[in-house]
Amino acid sequence: MRRPDDWHVHLRDGPMLAAVVNYTARQFSRAIVMPNLVPPVTTIAAAEAYRMRIASALEPGADFTPLMTCYLTDDIDPAEVARGFTHNVFTACKMYPAHATTNSALGVTDFKKIYRVFEAMERIGMPLLLHGEVTDKQIDIFDREVAFIDRILTKLIADFPALKIVLEHVTTAEAVRFVEDSGPNLASTITPHHLEINRNAMFDGGLRPHFYCLPVAKREVHRLALRRAATSGNPKFFLGTDSAPHAVSNKESACGCAGIFNAPFAMESYAKTFEEEGALNRLEAFASENGPRFYGLPLNTTRIVLERTSSQVPDFIPAASTRIVPFHAGQTLAWRFAGHADADATSLVDETGSGSAS
Ligand code: NCD
Ligand code: ZN
Repeated sequence: MRRPDDWHVHLRDGPMLAAVVNYTARQFSRAIVMPNLVPPVTTIAAAEAYRMRIASALEPGADFTPLMTCYLTDDIDPAEVARGFTHNVFTACKMYPAHATTNSALGVTDFKKIYRVFEAMERIGMPLLLHGEVTDKQIDIFDREVAFIDRILTKLIADFPALKIVLEHVTTAEAVRFVEDSGPNLASTITPHHLEINRNAMFDGGLRPHFYCLPVAKREVHRLALRRAATSGNPKFFLGTDSAPHAVSNKESACGCAGIFNAPFAMESYAKTFEEEGALNRLEAFASENGPRFYGLPLNTTRIVLERTSSQVPDFIPAASTRIVPFHAGQTLAWRFAGHADADATSLVDETGSGSAS
């Protein structure tokens, strides 16, 4: 298949960046890199420096382009945002409602405060990526995505009809319906884990922190709606892993971090879903075509091979003097990312570089 891109990933920084980035770079050609570092990426200089650190952490010969994003704060400078986009440093802006998720304390407290930024983005065609959850303590955590759509997104679309918006990591049937019913400027990413688990996974025989992420997994009816959307062929839905690594000690804790690390077996996981739904013929559109088309970027011309042979997912992945529990830990998956194919897909180059027929 055409090589895929990941339109939402957390690559972290420092030793953790070095430990995780090559899992993403191996499978994906490009990735939209989330800016929720400490401190967040809010300037062109910070994004360029982060891009350099990502490049330095790549294995030699890696063919991977990080697409940088700007973290929106209440006092972000619209001119800096626009300059970053026109100078090809920022591909998009990321909006976290303040305190919605990991490292979002400096996120936006009131949308009205950054309307000048949205105006600039709409004018220059810069996409806005939304963490679509309200943060009110009175709103049940399972209802926060729908409340975000009702209270914020509807108004945002009405006020900025030409703004390209990605409602990221959708988790509910209502969000799927809303995206389907909206115009062409609204699209969504869907993660492997929201296609695979429902909220029971967090409570299966005991508290299971490695299935906790934000937005939190919902009821089975929502998982089924996500699977229908992802495998439908609708160009408004595309791949975004939201791979979000946390050291095991930060997950298995009295106050465990949100985030699921799915990068090491991301394509294997999506292939599982698409096969189960009888939609393997639509995996390429979801993984490799719908995203670049929405962003107005060229499709990748290189190809990868997914083999229908088993992969054993380890219980732990060593990382930065600690360990991370990957998604599907301990499971055997029926697919294997087998490496890159040449342009006409007649030969296959595996990870070690030795060729074999595909
Ligand atoms: C992400 C993280 O750890 O940075 N966590 C998560 O559960 N997805 C933040 C985010 O995307 O919400
Ligand atoms: Zn995320």
